[in-house]
Amino acid sequence: MSDHEPSYHPSNPFSKWMDSRLPIMRMMHGQFVDFPTPRNLNYMWTFGGILTFMLVVQIVSGLVLSMHYQPSDAEAFNSVELIRRDVNYGWLLRNIHAVGASMFFFAVYLHMARGIYYGSYKAPREILWILGVIIFLLMMAAGFLGYALVWGQMSFWGVTVITNLFSALPLVGTGITKWLWGGYAVSGVTLNRFFSLHFLLPFVIFGVVILHIWALHVVGQNNPTGLDIKTKSDSVPMLPFAIMKDAFALAMFALVYAWFVFFVPNYLGDADNFIEANPLSTPPHIVPEWYFLPFYAILRSIPSKLGGVLMMFGSIALLAFLPWLDTSNVRSTKYRPIFKWFLWAFFFSVVALGYLGGKPAEGSYVMWSRVFTLYYFAFFLIIMPVVGLLETPRKLPSSIMDAVLGGGGGPTAANAATAAAEKR
Ligand code: HEM
Repeated sequence: MSDHEPSYHPSNPFSKWMDSRLPIMRMMHGQFVDFPTPRNLNYMWTFGGILTFMLVVQIVSGLVLSMHYQPSDAEAFNSVELIRRDVNYGWLLRNIHAVGASMFFFAVYLHMARGIYYGSYKAPREILWILGVIIFLLMMAAGFLGYALVWGQMSFWGVTVITNLFSALPLVGTGITKWLWGGYAVSGVTLNRFFSLHFLLPFVIFGVVILHIWALHVVGQNNPTGLDIKTKSDSVPMLPFAIMKDAFALAMFALVYAWFVFFVPNYLGDADNFIEANPLSTPPHIVPEWYFLPFYAILRSIPSKLGGVLMMFGSIALLAFLPWLDTSNVRSTKYRPIFKWFLWAFFFSVVALGYLGGKPAEGSYVMWSRVFTLYYFAFFLIIMPVVGLLETPRKLPSSIMDAVLGGGGGPTAANAATAAAEKR
């Protein structure tokens, strides 16, 4: 990877003193100011920054919420109401955190789709990708545990359905389920341990995100062409170019986020969760939050309970094997005329599964869930390996720079900066 001249020159005596003892500023400067980023990154590359922001928002808002929340079956539901009505700006904190979960998942799905479309999981980014899949699993666990804390009807019955799934595992299943519950049914004991774990997980995610970004900075960023950075003119320093783009995208994202927080905070939630948990009354239609719906549809599309559980977890675990299931030697789908169609059909299937997961498990809904589940697995296990071997990719540009200029890119601020730097 080409490097830009280090621009860190400690000027005052303190920074010089510090630099010769703990050069942390030099390291940060190298990684987040001078770091060479491909010059052709599009807005799909801004979601990593947005996700980092969302993780911090969730941790800070969650920390303050936890100062008022009561994790017991007698008080949990009312303490959430108390936060919304009586705590100073409690309504705002609660909306920021609850809507934040949805925004976090929205961003992560786009971040993952970008990774799949541009082949960012392929060598040398396998570890980076697998760390991402681990983050995704941890995020799902954190989202599930957090939703339980509201202790409304949908929280309670959601926990009951999902924890019961483990009982389908042969031999150990019942033991695992009782162990998760901390008793013979979902109760205040379950709620209490879910609260502890929900508090812990974001910090674990934070740790894995550091590894994720570390791994990214070892191998460098992919880009829409999928080509590696070969010469200095293929890249620009991260600051100001990539950082300014990230800042603009974050501002746009924050506008949408704020609109939900201030105007429709409950739009993505479920009306049944405004009724306190009642173990004696099952809601007619139990559905998880929208971001779990595709996986919920896969679970319900399989007639056997164990089969459904295995397929649901398998659909996520499969993602970790993408670097080896994709046999093409071209990274970016942009240059893969046949695979492109299959990939768009895959994205469509995931959205369709999301829609079907929210519908009752009956009639044609089940039939279509089966069709799309089949496609989901066929895409990864058959289409991806086979098309990669058979397809003739389109001609790749000779370099990232060539792709920018060939794509109609005229003189830009970034081009001018590199030209000036090269002249010097
Ligand atoms: C808390 C969640 C996450 C955070 C904070 C995060 C953060 C980041 C950041 C800052 C970048 C660099 C900027 C960018 O490319 O957008 C990045 C890149 C990347 N992330 Fe994540 N990420 C998260 C989740 C995930 C997940 C769930 C996956 C995949 C399953 C993933 C896969 C990747 C890949 C493959 C790249 C490299 C992209 C490229 O260079 O083309 N990330 N991530």
